[in-house]
Amino acid sequence: MMIDIALQDFSYAYTHPKKVLDNINIAVEKGSFSVILGPSGAGKTTLCLTIAGAVPHYFGGSSAGEVHVAGINTRKSTMHHLALTVGTVLQDYETQLVTMTVEEEVAFSLENRGISPEEINLRVKETLTKVGLTGYEKELVTSLSGGQKQRLVLASVLATNPKILILDEPTSALDPEGTESLYRLLGNLNREHDITILVVEHDIAAVLPYADQFILLENGKLIFSNTPENVLSFMANSHVFIEAIPPLWQLKLMLEQHSSYQFSPWRKEQDAILELHQFLQEEANKNA
Ligand SMILES: Nc1ncnc2c1ncn2[C@@H]1O[C@H](COP(=O)(O)OP(=O)(O)O)[C@@H](O)[C@H]1O
Ligand SMILES: [Mg+2]
Repeated sequence: MMIDIALQDFSYAYTHPKKVLDNINIAVEKGSFSVILGPSGAGKTTLCLTIAGAVPHYFGGSSAGEVHVAGINTRKSTMHHLALTVGTVLQDYETQLVTMTVEEEVAFSLENRGISPEEINLRVKETLTKVGLTGYEKELVTSLSGGQKQRLVLASVLATNPKILILDEPTSALDPEGTESLYRLLGNLNREHDITILVVEHDIAAVLPYADQFILLENGKLIFSNTPENVLSFMANSHVFIEAIPPLWQLKLMLEQHSSYQFSPWRKEQDAILELHQFLQEEANKNA
């Protein structure tokens, strides 16, 4: 087992003395799919910026502890050097768009990396296909919808072949179908290409089919980090961020609490439907 992202006793303040991250310890395994959860203001974005090296290299501030990403000590590296390994889709994704047209945007991320024009053309084509933007090559970036811009930023990042992918609320501008298809793509990149994925997402049901680890933050503190099912149970039992628990899981946890029944860790709606059906049948038989 190799650790791709490690925070050790990491604390950070944009401006002294308000600690936005407070003594955080996190380990993300290489090739795993992790999800950062927590209410607004918890420090999720700051954590992403930390892993990308923008904290502290761009934002300054004061920090303590260590951050290693792909074996690199971020404090001793540069954002530019880290970007060769870590691809980041910011929450504020529009700030990442810098050119006129869709194809220029993807090509731009590959400039100054010593990649041949033929290879650039190929990667532009491939990544636009991956995010569903084929046919938009000549369109102006400004003419795209929010969801299309979000997917274009992802294409630009994917074109650089990152080993680690950080995405901060990448579905905020997507509809449910777009969300499902984005996570299908991320799940595929994770499983087929062994890319380590760390995503901030509120839509827990959307990430459940793919996630290995949930990381729950609140108020700058790491509350709990474990398997998705253990973190969901923890959230329900300790009444932390319960509004984010998907309705089917609320039902599952409630039924388990009020009966001796134990469901499997539902990753897909279909799992839930099958087991609920079985549960209701057994209950009906009991009462017959
Ligand atoms: N550039 C900044 N300067 C000062 N404080 C900031 C800055 N960005 C975020 N914060 C503060 O840091 C805290 C955590 O913010 P953030 O990491 O954006 O949380 P989240 O993404 O979980 O909503 C908040 O209190 C926020 O106001
Ligand atoms: Mg945020």
